[in-house]
Formats: sequence, C-alpha cells, structure tokens
Amino acid sequence: MDSYAVFGNPIKHSKSPTIHQMFALSVGHQLDYRAILAPRDGFIDSLNQFFQGEGLGANVTLPFKEKAFQYADTLTLRAQLAGAVNTLKKCDDGRILGDNTDGAGLVADLLRNNIKIKNKRILLIGAGGAARGVILPLLGQEPDSLVIVNRTVEKAQLLEKTFQEYALEKNITISASSFDLLPKDEYQLIINSTSTSVTGDLPALDVIHAQFCEAAYDMFYEKNVTSFLNWIKENNEAAILVDGIGMLVEQAAESFYLWRNAKPNIENVLIKLKSEL
Ligand code: ATR
Repeated sequence: MDSYAVFGNPIKHSKSPTIHQMFALSVGHQLDYRAILAPRDGFIDSLNQFFQGEGLGANVTLPFKEKAFQYADTLTLRAQLAGAVNTLKKCDDGRILGDNTDGAGLVADLLRNNIKIKNKRILLIGAGGAARGVILPLLGQEPDSLVIVNRTVEKAQLLEKTFQEYALEKNITISASSFDLLPKDEYQLIINSTSTSVTGDLPALDVIHAQFCEAAYDMFYEKNVTSFLNWIKENNEAAILVDGIGMLVEQAAESFYLWRNAKPNIENVLIKLKSEL
C-alpha cells in the first residue's frame, strides 16, 4: 500500500496520522500513514530506510526540519526561503523533493476564517523558525506591509534582509523592529509566531496595537483561548481571533495535495481535533 509517515522526536502525540487517515477517507484514497520515532542521531538512516522501502512521502517535525532541508535532492522556493522542510516527496525519478507547507497552511487558514491579507498592514511577532516559514506565502498574498518584531532584533533584521528582494519586487514594505521601537501604528493583522503562549507569557506590544487590529492569529493553540488572543480580546472586542489548530490541519492538507493531487476535507478533521483538545 502507498506508505506515508511523520518523523519526529518525540512523536507520540503527533496528530498527523489521524489527520492524514481522515484526509484519505474524505477523498476515497487508500494509504498507510504512521508516526515514526527517529533517533536524534539516526534521522537520515530512518528516512533512507523508509524511502528505499514503500515510502512515498513524509512529514517532518521537531527537531528534524533543518536536517530534512539538507536531505532533499531538490527544494521548492518556499522551502529554500524557509530554510526548513516539513514535507518530503519521492518523485517518479526517485529523487526526493523537499517542501515547506507551513506558510501556505497559515495563509489558507487566515483566508478560511475570512481574514483578508491583501493590502493589509501586517505585524509578525517573532523571528524564529516558525516566523521564517510563513513569510514568503504571506508576501505572496500582497499585503501592504510586513513588520517583523522580535525580542532579539538582529533575528528580525536577518529575516528582513532575506525577504527584502522578494518584497520589493511585489512593492511590499518589509521592516524589522525591536519591541521598544515598534511604531504605534495601526496594524490590521497581528500574527504571533513566538512561543510565548506556551508559557502563558505575552509579547511586549502596546495596548494600542491590540485596540486597532482587525484580526489576531496565534500559531499556538490549546484547549482554552491562548494568552495572546485573550490579551487582544480584553482590549478589542471586535477583533477576529484565531488560534493555530486550523494551520496544523491546513499545512497537512497542503502536504496531502503535494503527494496525492487531491484536496481533502478540512472541516471534519478540525471538528475531531478540537473535540480531543
Ligand atoms: P520556532 O521555531 O517555534 O519559531 P524558536 O526558533 O526558538 O522557535 O523561536 C521562538 C520565538 O519566540 C523567537 O522569536 C523568540 O524570541 P528570541 O528570538 O528573542 O528568542 C520568541 N520568544 C520566546 N519566548 C519569548 C518571550 N518570553 N518574549 C518574547 N519573545 C519570545
């Protein structure tokens, strides 16, 4: 049977097998999808074994996304610029294609929630791997501008430099800032890519930012409203608030599409995952 897997360490709590099995059912495909715990120093061996066997495609999660980037024979542009790979596909000629579907997943989830990106002023909080992975797809939606704010400003500046040329081509302003010097502008869409919600902390924005935004997105999710979304809500009752569970499902759908050339049903999977939080 066509065989797929997610590789990570740890991997026990991965939702990917559930998601992809439901996807397959929704489009009437038969496939096997399992979670594989790769040893931290044995990821490449695990992948080789998988692709030399029945494996047709893999998802890659922490801590292996950069190693998967090195492993791929060819890379999509979005994976090249993300510097990380979350999806591998064995092509017909046996070569392994590396892709990164995280940003496309975010964009799809924003649009599914009726959050507009085109011509909007976006504030992206954070400059780690999660931020880097979503910038190109966000710019692809032609916002008016993108400001990256990060505690360690040098990391935000590096991202600004990495994506500057592409932004210029599209006439989009991209800039980096520390929290201290962040202009008190009206950012219409604020996206939190930091891990602050994991610990219940808050990024150091001004209340004005919360008051003026139209929508806020937290890439993190949990059973309750995340600390970041809760803070926005306290200051702005009208803002649309969305957490990252939809992004998880949408990035998986992008992987599924790359492998199977079919668009799976999202909604049923989301309902199930939310019920299990
Ligand atoms: P990921 O791959 O998930 O993005 P990461 O590379 O460790 O993980 O990046 C975590 C992000 O969260 C960074 O932007 C980090 O800011 P620094 O670059 O300054 O470390 C941000 N972050 C984590 N904890 C934070 C906190 N308490 N306040 C503000 N930013 C925080």
